[in-house]
Amino acid sequence: MPQLPRDTRPDATLSLLADPYRFISKQCRAYGSDLFETRLMLQKATCMTGPEAARLFYDQSRFMRHGAMIGRIQKTLLGKHGVQGLDDEAHRLRKQMFMSLMTPERIEVLMAITAEEWQARARLWALRNEIVLYDELHELLTRAACAWAGVPLPESQVRQRTHEITALFDAAGSVGPAHWRARWARKRADRWIENIVGRIRSGQIRPPEGSAASIIAEHRGSNGELLSPHVAAVELLNVIRPIVAVGVYITFVAHALHQFPECRRKLEAGDDTSFTEMFVQEVRRFYPFFPAVAALVRRDFEWGGYRFPRGRRVILDLYGTNRDARTWDEPEAFQPERFRKWDGNPFNFIPQGGGDHDLDHRCPGEWITIGLMSQATKVLSRHIEYDVPEQDLRIDYSRLPALPRSRFIICRVKENA
Ligand code: HEM
Repeated sequence: MPQLPRDTRPDATLSLLADPYRFISKQCRAYGSDLFETRLMLQKATCMTGPEAARLFYDQSRFMRHGAMIGRIQKTLLGKHGVQGLDDEAHRLRKQMFMSLMTPERIEVLMAITAEEWQARARLWALRNEIVLYDELHELLTRAACAWAGVPLPESQVRQRTHEITALFDAAGSVGPAHWRARWARKRADRWIENIVGRIRSGQIRPPEGSAASIIAEHRGSNGELLSPHVAAVELLNVIRPIVAVGVYITFVAHALHQFPECRRKLEAGDDTSFTEMFVQEVRRFYPFFPAVAALVRRDFEWGGYRFPRGRRVILDLYGTNRDARTWDEPEAFQPERFRKWDGNPFNFIPQGGGDHDLDHRCPGEWITIGLMSQATKVLSRHIEYDVPEQDLRIDYSRLPALPRSRFIICRVKENA
């Protein structure tokens, strides 16, 4: 049996951390292979890229998620015992709970809430010299996410909660003090939402029917029991946190509108609604967000002539798969029109994971993400006007999530009539 190409470094953790978005695809290109073996945190790991590897990765008879997540990500970004680490029936049941929140009607409600928040913020921005868009989006989206999810957010707590939720995704990938800030934020946020869940269950708070808070607080597992307050809190934060994290993509929407003026002109004209959708898809394909996902091999198997031993950690490259030249012509170019011809394959365009939304671990928040990005595209191209002053717009690929170094500054904001 052929040997997998093997990284020659004794351990590749530092190389991965130095360039988390491009490490896997670069190595794969160097080895002329879709997969290679390396060591991450001293343990053997198999890294894979491309649509065929993605199809394999989402085969649940071969891979499982329990125990796959790296501890420091669980202690910050995701929290413990949430849907991400479940398998089989337990996963399907929990996933249904998330999918039931994603009806078109519920998504419309979120869009109406965020539309009001955009208006309120734009009015404040018009009174200021300049604003840092990425920073401003945190509060806008925290207010909207909590209102939509049915989580009460008193005005006196807005700043603190915004800060905590943001730290969960903005500092999770860091090392040193920022990582500890994220751990502290996770503890505070878990405790806050556990308390809310307790008050919903005791009838002190009545969230709207169909809201995330109501559905998650009442959800029963396969044993017929309510989720523990801690797990319910982790899952409710699994709704609120990523809505706030869409601010990363909205910052890239603003970046793309600025860097690709011919797209902005088409969007300003507003006569081709399908172009907005293609533009948003291209932002999700082109810009970095989640670099990769991890699973463990369930039992020994062979694929493509290579052996996958039980227990091996396998990492699928999301960013590189979205830029794979076998799927995308000129993958390094920003071309929304390419989505006119995209075949809809669930394994070749995977910014939020691949496979099936109901059955696999694919992100249940894709429709919300696309909705919020489309709305932001309209606001930034048509509802408000602004200037983009001189600033460092280069994307820092070494941080997680990657961001423009300046966080996108805008000035002289005006609302259009
Ligand atoms: C899972 C990305 C927005 C809720 C995931 C996964 C990725 C991802 C890469 C893992 C897929 C896998 O393991 O195979 C993103 C990005 C977003 C986003 C880049 C943009 C901000 C959202 C939103 C929500 C959400 C808006 C909910 C409102 C979840 C949940 C899971 C998940 C609950 C776990 C699903 C499971 O394990 O079955 N997301 N997501 N995400 N996402 Fe998102």
